[in-house]
Amino acid sequence: MANVTELRCVLCGRTYKEEETLYTCPHCGLDGTLDVLYDYDEVKKELTKEGLKNNRNYTQWRYFPILPVNDASHIQPLSVGFTPLYSSNKLAHKYGVKQVYIKDDGRNPTGSLKDRASAVGVAKALDFGRDTIACSSTGNAASSMAGFAAVAGLKSFIFVPEDAPIAKVTQLLIYGAIVMLVKGDYEDAFRLSEEAIEKYGWYNRNCGINPYLLEGKKTCGMEIAEQLEWDVPDKVFIAVGDGCCISSLYKAFYDLKEIGFTDRMPQIIGVQAEGCSPVFDAIKSNKDRVEFIKGSTIADSIDVGAPRNWAKALRAVRESRGDMVAVSDEEILDAMRELARDTGVFGEPAGVTGFAGFKKMALEGRLKEDERVAIVVTGNGLKDIKSAQKAAGQGISVEPDIDDLIKKLSLIGSN
Ligand SMILES: Cc1ncc(COP(=O)(O)O)c(C=O)c1O
Ligand SMILES: [Zn+2]
Repeated sequence: MANVTELRCVLCGRTYKEEETLYTCPHCGLDGTLDVLYDYDEVKKELTKEGLKNNRNYTQWRYFPILPVNDASHIQPLSVGFTPLYSSNKLAHKYGVKQVYIKDDGRNPTGSLKDRASAVGVAKALDFGRDTIACSSTGNAASSMAGFAAVAGLKSFIFVPEDAPIAKVTQLLIYGAIVMLVKGDYEDAFRLSEEAIEKYGWYNRNCGINPYLLEGKKTCGMEIAEQLEWDVPDKVFIAVGDGCCISSLYKAFYDLKEIGFTDRMPQIIGVQAEGCSPVFDAIKSNKDRVEFIKGSTIADSIDVGAPRNWAKALRAVRESRGDMVAVSDEEILDAMRELARDTGVFGEPAGVTGFAGFKKMALEGRLKEDERVAIVVTGNGLKDIKSAQKAAGQGISVEPDIDDLIKKLSLIGSN
């Protein structure tokens, strides 16, 4: 059995045993998302820094004692987590900070950080004896769930907006999921999925509802700490849609402090697109709740006007003394090009939004020269080629003839 002790509502603080509620707080409804808490003394016995040094399991499951899966045989063999953390002197120098670390989570099996959550979601579905799992998604959560469900032999039902990027939809189909292309936006897909899940009794993998998924995502923050030998960075930047990823960073650093691996929490900086920035708006206007809006941005994964995990997202920013930044679509495309050219890491629009936020804060003089900064790249650039093409431009059409080549190269002044 896992070391989970209870689930605690982020709004009212009521606690529940695992068998008392599957998803959110029965008292607070959908807004009352639950924190998964552990017997930290027990975790300390099973998870030690020394043990991790000798542990050759370089996946997120190296943190098994502080993950909520009851039966280890429910873990699928797809290798998830332990993605690279690159140190970029070039970016540190360019933006006047001490160190910049890029966490490339597009390197996960289906190409996004969401794999960390899906790996746990599928294992929990099996823990609960389910044979069907469902979710709504802007695309990445769905493609990862489809992949893990396929390996686990679970049936999967997926609800995505009909204009989700073709690569993400193709991933779903190739894994054999039953895919509903909802005529509407992510909020419409979410609402339909919730109704269907209720009606058919499928296991719910919606990350803003199911408390266990965030536990999978938190391994990204734990890895950053471990890869920096437990000397956590001063700031961590990440894109914000539903608010699960940013909340998972907070939970990672919270848990690490609880077990005595680290002694401080980095400032967590959430980044949204200017066209859809409800969490940014709530922080800037000092509100207790996030007001839902209808927005629009090129970064489809964070085109989320009604962030389900708003309460945890606000807590992550406020309790870590962090901040929110909003960037334009233009700045996101610039960030995509620059990150690829400076570090070799090619992220999708939402994937590089954290980097765009870092650039903006640096250029506004809001970062200090002695700061160490980590930036999470949450999804792979090949997920959304249409947007990438906007940032990348066109190739040069040339006849299979050296004279034409010479002419074309002279036109661009490259030879
Ligand atoms: C690539 C990428 N980045 C960031 C996010 C935002 O994560 P969250 O919805 O947990 O805030 C998503 C969510 O779909 C995503 O796919
Ligand atoms: Zn509650």
